[in-house]
Amino acid sequence: MIKKVGILTAGGDCPGLNAVIRGIVKTADYASVETYGFMQGYKGLYYNNFMKLDPTVVSGIIAKGGTILGSNNKTNIFAMPVKDKNGEISFEDKSFEVVERLKRDNFDCLIIIGGDGSLKSARDFTRRGLNVIGVPKTIDNDVPYTDTTFGFNTAVTVATEAIDRIRTTAESHGRILVLEVMGRYAGWIALAAGIAGGADTVLIPEIPYDFKSIVNKINQRKSIGKNYSIIVVAEGAKPIGGNVAVKSIVSDSPDSIRLGGAGEFVAREVEKLIGQEARSTSLGYIQRGGDTSPYDRILSTEYGAMAMQMAIDEKFNNMVTMLNGKITYVPLEEVAGKDTAIGASSSNIKTVDLNSDMIQTARRVGICLGD
Ligand code: F6P
Repeated sequence: MIKKVGILTAGGDCPGLNAVIRGIVKTADYASVETYGFMQGYKGLYYNNFMKLDPTVVSGIIAKGGTILGSNNKTNIFAMPVKDKNGEISFEDKSFEVVERLKRDNFDCLIIIGGDGSLKSARDFTRRGLNVIGVPKTIDNDVPYTDTTFGFNTAVTVATEAIDRIRTTAESHGRILVLEVMGRYAGWIALAAGIAGGADTVLIPEIPYDFKSIVNKINQRKSIGKNYSIIVVAEGAKPIGGNVAVKSIVSDSPDSIRLGGAGEFVAREVEKLIGQEARSTSLGYIQRGGDTSPYDRILSTEYGAMAMQMAIDEKFNNMVTMLNGKITYVPLEEVAGKDTAIGASSSNIKTVDLNSDMIQTARRVGICLGD
């Protein structure tokens, strides 16, 4: 019987993380398993910075966005920066000593709640002999082998409300309003919110867009007396033959590129082509903040409770998942991409399937996808 489990939340924060932690801790308590939370993701794991968890600590956090453990998306224990006496930085694999310490401290398992990059490291730890359970987390919904990730529903809810609100000024001023949403290199948030918000055009990374197509859609609306348009742009969307819009480079992060500016780029180009006022708004971190949607609270609780049950049943080195609506699990090796080397920051993401129901639906109701 397992007795002691560690938990960490890694990568970008996301609505539902606290509900997952709560699901894990409450399930563990009923099975007399001790739980400890490592602070700030892999950074706390490396520096052995943790807090004891129990039902009183997680009481009342089910709706609370973010994570009581803190997180970060910079630490890669398999490639830790080390400065020598001349100030030269090299990268060292510190995973062996971390695994040894966890075993010495009698941890039976580590539950890692993270996105594609964090789950890749989770898989790497299994290759170092650590018992690991992964939980798929991200507002981007781009983790493979699961119907959906918690956080996605809340982000789409926020983005949809934003579309409803910018429609007001678009109608009042006869403007082209552009909303930039997150999602990294996948267009799930843009596509789902675009359909929910009744957007006229949705631009996603999976379909490099043609401005001619966007202009045609705007003119088609004008021909029926609609002198305004709503365009939703995923932050990773790019024109045919063009590049993604980069906001900044976070040099000490395994995934250093921070996307941003795609929406403003589209607004400026469309205004030039159409000769009509265009304005852009970027939702940014608003999509990750605030309270968690009821759907995500349920999904997160299911994921957390299942993760702890898998640890109790010693079904290690798997990721909790929802497949065809059923809560189950898949091997972390599959999720991370078996062939990716230990320590490599390359990760395996799930992009929008261009034959999916959502894409077909968007086309059937006349949403322009930029092609
Ligand atoms: O992966 C979640 C996410 O919010 C992406 O949609 C976004 O591109 C990225 O994180 C931003 O990262 P950070 O929080 O480091 O700025």
